[in-house]
Amino acid sequence: MLPRRQLLKGSAAIAALTAWPELGFAADGVLSDAPINLCASEVQRPLLPGRRPSRLFLYDGISPGPTIRRQQGDRLRVLFHNDLSVPSTIHWHGVRLTNRMDGVPNLTQAPVRAGETYLYDFILPDAGTYWYHAHFNSLEQVARGLYGPLIIEGDTSLSSSSRDVVLTLDDWWIDDDGRFVDGFTDWSQGKPGGRIGNIATVNGNSPGQLVEIPAATPVRLRLINAANAREFFPDFKGAEAKVVAVDGQPLAEPHPVTGPLRLGPAQRLDLMVRLPSGGEARLAEASGTLLGNQTLAVFRAGPPDKNAPQNVQLRPPNLTRPGPNNALQIPLVMTGGSSAEIAGARYQDAQRNLKQLVRAQQVWAFNQTADLPKQPLFRAKRGASVLVQMENLTGWSHAMHVHGHHFQVLNSRDDLDAKAWRDTVMIDRNQKVEIAFVVDNPGRWLLHCHMLQHAVSGMRTWFEVV
Ligand code: C2O
Ligand code: CU
Repeated sequence: MLPRRQLLKGSAAIAALTAWPELGFAADGVLSDAPINLCASEVQRPLLPGRRPSRLFLYDGISPGPTIRRQQGDRLRVLFHNDLSVPSTIHWHGVRLTNRMDGVPNLTQAPVRAGETYLYDFILPDAGTYWYHAHFNSLEQVARGLYGPLIIEGDTSLSSSSRDVVLTLDDWWIDDDGRFVDGFTDWSQGKPGGRIGNIATVNGNSPGQLVEIPAATPVRLRLINAANAREFFPDFKGAEAKVVAVDGQPLAEPHPVTGPLRLGPAQRLDLMVRLPSGGEARLAEASGTLLGNQTLAVFRAGPPDKNAPQNVQLRPPNLTRPGPNNALQIPLVMTGGSSAEIAGARYQDAQRNLKQLVRAQQVWAFNQTADLPKQPLFRAKRGASVLVQMENLTGWSHAMHVHGHHFQVLNSRDDLDAKAWRDTVMIDRNQKVEIAFVVDNPGRWLLHCHMLQHAVSGMRTWFEVV
């Protein structure tokens, strides 16, 4: 049984898909410096209508949390209230912000304890599609619903809600009673690929909802994958579509959609679509691994918008290309996930055998080290070019995420990756992927797998820019 009605929000389903939550702040940026409140709390609510309640963690009582919309260059101030009974923090995924606002517990800030508040305060340097999520025990906290879209405008004039549609994708693991499956402590659970759910939601609603968009007008669809470990394979069918931005950063040239796209955990894709008058199109999920509806959303052409621009070019990213020659070369070898693939590793500054690693639930490693080492993976001067040579010796794919920076992917088999600036890249088994970037943001930054089960059980390291 799948949710027929909307899952978590209180208003009509279609309205929930096409309208922005009203936060009480000015969308035009006039009041953009005023802090907004964001409150995390635990809520008992049925995931599916008529079923028994699940224990959810929500920002402001909804999942996804409120859409935060700002202009490029704005200062964003968010007063975070932690009304959970456990510590939490907020990470602003992909934003090149000042290090102490990055929300990584014990690396960039102390965890915000139950009942406490914390003011996040930073400038938004880039326009694009970003998101925010809990970064304390994120495996559990993100799975229970703590995430939301962060949309930074200023790269086009297409900002009205009918021409700019956010679609936040998630999956949920539910049991036969329709309840959220707990069980975060046993890393194995026969799921070394991470916590992959069996039903999908789009903006917290059951998939396949109808969205009306103006005909004969470019409309921007912002796809965000907020799932714990699932890769989505979205395919836009029935009308013309192009990828115009990846992980928030615009592509130099739009990339035509000719089949399923790959959207790994934490990644974003911005599509520009155009429906003819009377047209209908759909965003399908091509993996076929979800229960129920394999259509994420249906788009129907409404009245044309005469004032809309017909040609939309995004402004190019403001990022420095890494130098090809004198880059610092950093090997990063990924192991783990099964006894055949990890014999032992360093953990908390001592060498451990497999049995000890399993007991500590640290079964994945970067360079034979599980979890954050005392010394960084590398330390580099601000402005240096860095080449991280990742090699995946595990039996699974991973979603490798660098905090505070965007990088170029040098040798991917994926032609979209080859053109993009990314903050999160997929690396498949037995694959080598090199990423290059200029470290231009001082501080201590995390580098980890965004399949959150992998991150909490070893796949995390850090680097320092001085
Ligand atoms: Cu969205 Cu450290 O991650
Ligand atoms: Cu992983």
